[in-house]
Amino acid sequence: MSTPAEFWEERYVSNGRVWSGRVNHTLAQVVGTLPEPPGRALDLGCGEGGDAVWLAEQGWQVTAVDISPTAVSRGAAAAAERGLASAITWLAHDLTTWRTEGSYDLVTACFFQAPVELARIDILRRAAGHLSPGGRLVVISHAAPPPWASPEHIGEHRFQTPQEELAELELGEGWAIDLAEVRMREITAPDGTPAMLDDGVLVVRRT
Ligand SMILES: C[S@@+](CC[C@H](N)C(=O)[O-])C[C@H]1O[C@@H](n2cnc3c(N)ncnc32)[C@H](O)[C@@H]1O
Repeated sequence: MSTPAEFWEERYVSNGRVWSGRVNHTLAQVVGTLPEPPGRALDLGCGEGGDAVWLAEQGWQVTAVDISPTAVSRGAAAAAERGLASAITWLAHDLTTWRTEGSYDLVTACFFQAPVELARIDILRRAAGHLSPGGRLVVISHAAPPPWASPEHIGEHRFQTPQEELAELELGEGWAIDLAEVRMREITAPDGTPAMLDDGVLVVRRT
């Protein structure tokens, strides 16, 4: 049985690029319409950096963290290719043990879900604690398994509604809920047929 660090590093090393390299559609929809100008952003489980690079293109100063050194190095290479190296700090670290003194205007977590052990809610709650007043936590998640997913694929993965995630976060006083909803997204399934995915969207703002 591999550790989460081994599992994810193996996932990235044994494949070429795993993700598209593009920003997650729902994240772009949400962050692209925020009323405030870009500031400091923290991307949790950044993978190969599609979201971090897009955020930097929009003017955010980004800290991007992932447990897989290979994923992070792919993100850094993509950022450098676009002339964005100075806008993103890439960190290969397990967020279970990562600590920061930093404060952020935006914390993003897109599909920060795993078929192996992941202290997801603890990590999200800790990161939310680093938001400045007015800052937002934006969590985009699979609210249901993809129609083609097998039990092995799903593994220990938990699918929750944004409302359930919000309840688990136990944020307490001092937070406004901007969004807690499920959005359907059209995609092409691995077999080439059209399919729909349920994206959970949770946006909370520190008041
Ligand atoms: C499903 S992928 C999503 C990647 C990216 N956010 C995206 O949307 O393309 C989940 C990511 O979380 C990372 N991850 C899992 N557990 C982690 C942990 N404990 N600390 C940091 N990153 C972790 C994995 O390496 C993987 O890149």
